[in-house]
Amino acid sequence: MLTNKELLETAKKASENAYCPYSLFPVGACALFESGKTYTGCNIENSSYGLTLCAERNAISNAISQGETTKLIKIAIYSPKSKKCFPCGACRQWIQEFADGFNTEIILEGNSSQENLYYINDIFPYSFKLI
Ligand code: THU
Repeated sequence: MLTNKELLETAKKASENAYCPYSLFPVGACALFESGKTYTGCNIENSSYGLTLCAERNAISNAISQGETTKLIKIAIYSPKSKKCFPCGACRQWIQEFADGFNTEIILEGNSSQENLYYINDIFPYSFKLI
C-alpha cells in the first residue's frame, strides 16, 4: 500500500498530464482502493467548457472501468496552482458513491510540507444515496 505522501506524489505526476488549455489549472488525483490498487486521473477540459472532466472523477472512472470492485479508501488530490485543491461538489458525490462508509480519506497537500487529511463525511455530509 502506498503511503499518503506517495499517493500525493503520484497525484502530482498525474497532474503533469492535465489537459487544461482554458483554465491553466492542472489537477491530478490518485485513488487508493481496498484492493491495494491505485488509479490516477487528471483534469480534461473541452472547448465546450461544461464538458470538462475533473481529475478525481477521471481517477474513479479509470478504477471502475478497469474492474475495481472494492471500496475507495483514500484519494489524494494535487494542483500546482493551489496548496489545497478540495474536490468540487460533483467529485464529492462521486467519491461518496464508492466510499468506505463515511471514512474515505481526502488527502491534500498542506500549507507546510505536510499533507492534510479530511474525511468525506466531514466535507460532504447528508449526501444523497440510493444504496
Ligand atoms: N478541477 C478538478 O480537476 N477537480 C476539482 O475538484 C476542481 C476543479 C479542474 C476542472 C477544471 O479543469 C479546472 O480544475 C479549473 O476549474
